[in-house]
Amino acid sequence: MACALWTCLVLALLPSLAASGFPRSPFRLLGKRSLPEGVVDGIEIYSTTISCKVTSRFAHNVVTTRAVNRADKAKEVSFDVELPKTAFITNFTLTIDGVTYPGNVKEKEVAKKQYEKAVSQGKTAGLVKASGRKLEKFTVSVNVAAGSKVTFELTYEELLKRHKGKYEMFLKIQPKQLVKHFEIDAHIFEPQGISTLDATASFITNDLLGSALTKSFSGKKGHVSFKPSLDQQRSCPTCTDSLLNGDFTITYDVNRESPANVQVVNGYFVHFFAPQGLPVVPKNVVFVIDVSGSMSGRKLAQTKDALFKILEDMKEEDFLNFILFSGDVTTWKDHLIQATPENLKEARTFVENIRDQGMTNINDGLLRGISMLTRAREEHLVPERSTSILIMLTDGDANVGERRPEKIQENVRNAIGGQFPLYNLGFGKNLNYNFLESMALENSGLARRIYEDSDAHLQLQGFYEEVANPLLTGVEVEYPENAILDLTQNSYQHFYDGSEIVVAGRLLDENMNSFKADVKGHGAINDLTFTEEVDVKEMEEALKERDYIFGDYIERLWAYLTIEQLLEKSKKAHGDEKQNLTAQALELSLKYHFVTPLTSMVVTKPEDNEDQTAIADKPEEGAEATSVTSSQAYLTSYQPPQKTYHYVDGDPHFIIQVPEKGDAICFNIDEDPGTVLRLIHDPVTGLTVNGQIIGDKGSSTDSKTRKTYFGKLGITNAQMDFRMEVTTEKITLWNGEAASIFSWLDTIVVTQDGQYLLFSSRLSVSINNKKNMVVSFGDGVTFVVVLHQVWKKHPVHQDFLGFYMVDSHRMSAQTHGLLGQFFHPFDFEVSDIRPGSDPTKPDATMLVKDHRLTVTRGSQKDYRKDARVGTKVMCWFVHNNGEGLIDGVHTDYIVSSLF
Ligand SMILES: *[C@@H]1O[C@H](CO)[C@@H](O)[C@H](O)[C@H]1NC(C)=O
Ligand SMILES: *[C@@H]1O[C@H](CO)[C@@H](O)[C@H](O)[C@H]1NC(C)=O
Repeated sequence: MACALWTCLVLALLPSLAASGFPRSPFRLLGKRSLPEGVVDGIEIYSTTISCKVTSRFAHNVVTTRAVNRADKAKEVSFDVELPKTAFITNFTLTIDGVTYPGNVKEKEVAKKQYEKAVSQGKTAGLVKASGRKLEKFTVSVNVAAGSKVTFELTYEELLKRHKGKYEMFLKIQPKQLVKHFEIDAHIFEPQGISTLDATASFITNDLLGSALTKSFSGKKGHVSFKPSLDQQRSCPTCTDSLLNGDFTITYDVNRESPANVQVVNGYFVHFFAPQGLPVVPKNVVFVIDVSGSMSGRKLAQTKDALFKILEDMKEEDFLNFILFSGDVTTWKDHLIQATPENLKEARTFVENIRDQGMTNINDGLLRGISMLTRAREEHLVPERSTSILIMLTDGDANVGERRPEKIQENVRNAIGGQFPLYNLGFGKNLNYNFLESMALENSGLARRIYEDSDAHLQLQGFYEEVANPLLTGVEVEYPENAILDLTQNSYQHFYDGSEIVVAGRLLDENMNSFKADVKGHGAINDLTFTEEVDVKEMEEALKERDYIFGDYIERLWAYLTIEQLLEKSKKAHGDEKQNLTAQALELSLKYHFVTPLTSMVVTKPEDNEDQTAIADKPEEGAEATSVTSSQAYLTSYQPPQKTYHYVDGDPHFIIQVPEKGDAICFNIDEDPGTVLRLIHDPVTGLTVNGQIIGDKGSSTDSKTRKTYFGKLGITNAQMDFRMEVTTEKITLWNGEAASIFSWLDTIVVTQDGQYLLFSSRLSVSINNKKNMVVSFGDGVTFVVVLHQVWKKHPVHQDFLGFYMVDSHRMSAQTHGLLGQFFHPFDFEVSDIRPGSDPTKPDATMLVKDHRLTVTRGSQKDYRKDARVGTKVMCWFVHNNGEGLIDGVHTDYIVSSLF
């Protein structure tokens, strides 16, 4: 199985993809025959669907499982999906009895804390971990009440890479019980036209699959459906266990009438390049093989088997040599020799006699290989139009000679000097794979793990086959200057037969009519240039019919490729550059909702927790990069909140939580900087909160684009004769005429007994060092003011405040104001959910306060708990300054001054 360079580096291995989506029960009842069909340990999984949509190699897969607890007590239901390491999870939602808990992608460290907290509190938490060679397993369990239903929905995306002439989608199937409605439904759309399409299942022959499996393709569209009935799922006619257990694989390829294909949609383009029928460029291969003591036995035997097979496949034009390293370095020949039949015969004898011995001197083995390849070129021992490849195989770390990985890397980098690629094969687990990977990457190659297993020789051979047939070398993909932005990697040392080069980018001018793309490379016989003229308008027209799949696939494909390449580059970078690359990858991961090694998915409902004191920076500023470790995702699922709160933050975004609905409503108020708005006014308790709007630095006057925030809050309690003014710089408290001024830098608690005795015993103010301030009036009125700090020299943004009412239960029924009016219970109905102008944000009709409004599903952020990125809160957005939702119109809430 082949693997495009960058994929392997990031999450490892194949382009295939696997999914199952099946709750498993921890154990099974012995008397299961007496149970209704399809119910195991009280849990009935009545539906599992895997829906795959592939558009131009970009796969979007949704695994949905629905289960019901038929037992008379709460039961744990688990959901496992195995997916390819190369895929990014993009969404996960959990729906319990109609309440949906959406997933949010967060920076990993942030999510990790939430995950750990959830676990420590015994709450539901899910995890993704590596599973086998090419898969990752996503697992989550939830406790489901008797009679309740649960739906799990996991979405992941992946760019399918072409290996040995095919794209492969790999779905791991393992339902573990009979499922009334089980279905795989795959739709493939390829603008170049589909040339072959097949689907196979490892657990059953195609004959037996019979009517359950249908596959068809015609023109640009392909379809595979697998829908076994309950009886077809049985492992035998009278059995109640499932036969479905194994791999379901869909393979296809596209027409190759033209060597390249460019697609443009919404200003993003992708360029696929895979010329056919070119002669193979002769290659000069040096194998640098670890024969240290630890290779003895099966590993060495398998290595020899693989080498025999590789020798069989060598072409007469090729040149080769073997270098063996242990404590010492020995070579087969002093220089590269041609793969003539006589020489190959001699090579077989040499391989036959390889013996293991001693230590591991990687440095000297590699340097010998490099100098041999360099010399062969310099001394014209190899053909002019040939290409050189260095393949190193080791099963351990260097333990003699130069042992410092950084030093070995430096030596190798300097010796190769960009002349040819180095491929590192790491045999088994007992080695520093990161080192092998980073060294291969900085020398335009890749690393591959060879798993210690009975098929290790096939893995080795498989790798060799991928690089055995270079058709072009020094491939450069060129676009018109000043027309293209954000290009993904566009130069490759080799184009190998059966693979494909994919370059994506953005058009500087979306209205550009046409552009020309050139691919240049050195072939076996001459230098070649492939030119592709792209008529953008015609293209967009032709791709219209693809809209039935998903419209932004090129943009997402671009983001996927860019993130993978940034992660790969960051693996070989150091210091500031590494930080910068990681930061860029993180930003894109968050923007495009990809669970990458830098991010995690967190499923949560914001819960009310007064002692929470995190939060400070404005999200787009801080995002410090964290180091790349594994591609774990964390997932936590909290119980629905017991209490609720309302808040205003950001551009003033008002978020009103409606706990009865498990949902939220949001709206914005757009007013000029300087305007003061009444947020809360309670004539009974005497509490009033007003907020003054500020704009960005050099604020634009266009209310559509400008950003406004709250920069100042005025809080008064007439009964207590106190006032408080909160700005982004300081906090001033007045008790009568006496003023005390605090800085946000203070960490301080002001109470009756404290040093700063100012107010009645019922008041407490705590400032938490630059982060937030919690103000309570006894038991029953608490709010939090959050300080958002931006980088001081930021050209546009400035610091601002968020206001979170976390406890309002002592406030009177007469409370009013933009936030205050929602402290009383109120109801709304949402119906007729329909596609909106933005496909990701449906519109709906909301009945509220006797008004019928058109609302849009959106999200806002809650920064109360989460330092940088905030927690996403899904809400129904009411347009036009909350018109119809708020009493009166928003200008009714404008007041003349803060106090
Ligand atoms: C995640 O999936 C849910 C349920 O299908 C959907 O409502 C939501 O919009 C999705 N989120 C994203 C970011 O795609
Ligand atoms: C990375 O570096 C580039 C060029 O030096 C700079 O323009 C960019 O803002 C940096 N990106 C990040 C996220 O630090």
